[in-house]
Amino acid sequence: MNPETKPVVEVVDLFRKFGSRTVIDGISLTVYRGETLVIMGGSGCGKSTLLRHIIGVMKPNAGSVKIFGDEITAMNDRQIDDIRRRFGMLFQSGALLASLTVGENVALPLLQHTDMSATEVEDTVTQKLQMVGLSGFENLKPAEISGGMRKRVGLARALVLDPELLFSDEPTSGLDPIMTAVVDKLTLELTKRSGMTAVVVTHDMTSAFRIATRMIMLGRGKIIAQGTPDEIRTHPDPEVQQFINGEPDGPMPLNLSQDDHEHHPHVKARPLVSARQRFRHKIP
Ligand SMILES: Nc1ncnc2c1ncn2[C@@H]1O[C@H](COP(=O)(O)OP(=O)(O)OP(=O)(O)O)[C@@H](O)[C@H]1O
Ligand SMILES: [Mg+2]
Repeated sequence: MNPETKPVVEVVDLFRKFGSRTVIDGISLTVYRGETLVIMGGSGCGKSTLLRHIIGVMKPNAGSVKIFGDEITAMNDRQIDDIRRRFGMLFQSGALLASLTVGENVALPLLQHTDMSATEVEDTVTQKLQMVGLSGFENLKPAEISGGMRKRVGLARALVLDPELLFSDEPTSGLDPIMTAVVDKLTLELTKRSGMTAVVVTHDMTSAFRIATRMIMLGRGKIIAQGTPDEIRTHPDPEVQQFINGEPDGPMPLNLSQDDHEHHPHVKARPLVSARQRFRHKIP
């Protein structure tokens, strides 16, 4: 990490309680342009909650979050909407809209933030689905694809505006090892070639060490360790060692070849732009 590099995210003394439970207990971190920051930590330690605060979906009890230099905690919904044009977010659940097709889900940010023609929208969606290994799945609904495939649709949607900053919450959970490698390679290519900055939450250690330029480990609402992958690998804290040497979640097999899904004559295609009117107010 080059300290001269401009920060794209700056979190200072962030606190958040739910009822009497403090989930974020004084977190400060900085993300620099071009780096891939991996955030790790046990289930329930507050990783997703931290991301939600960074992207402005949740407001903290105290503390500051700056994205691209602007204080997101002080922004209204419209200002947050504007800044969303510049970053992508893959939610842990995928957060796809169930009544829209895969293609429409991926198209939504384009429909909200650009005035692309119908053909441009179709072409961009096709290209992004191809990037995540899902060519030909445009007309299926989220319920008709596997969990790992939904994850990848969420990633395609997060990348559809070619963001300079990507937040990914467990991008590889539920993916088989090959698809995990494909997603990791994509993240690496985007950060190395296009200068994208990535903040990735994961407890897949293979993936974490493959993509990270810097790592942060959370525990009990605080940062318990941070450093380069080498520093984390040799970190003296036994909790860190226990975590990084633990077995990652077993990958859910997808076992579906693309060819099996290439043609879906029973599914009627509809123009992706028709989603604009129906879901204008729901676009994430
Ligand atoms: N909206 C909410 N209301 C109340 N409690 C919440 C809310 N959101 C999160 N929490 C609590 O905050 C804690 C951290 O949750 P979070 O989803 O951030 O964990 P996580 O580190 O992402 O876990 P995992 O690895 O399982 O995804 C949990 O105890 C959760 O119950
Ligand atoms: Mg989570």
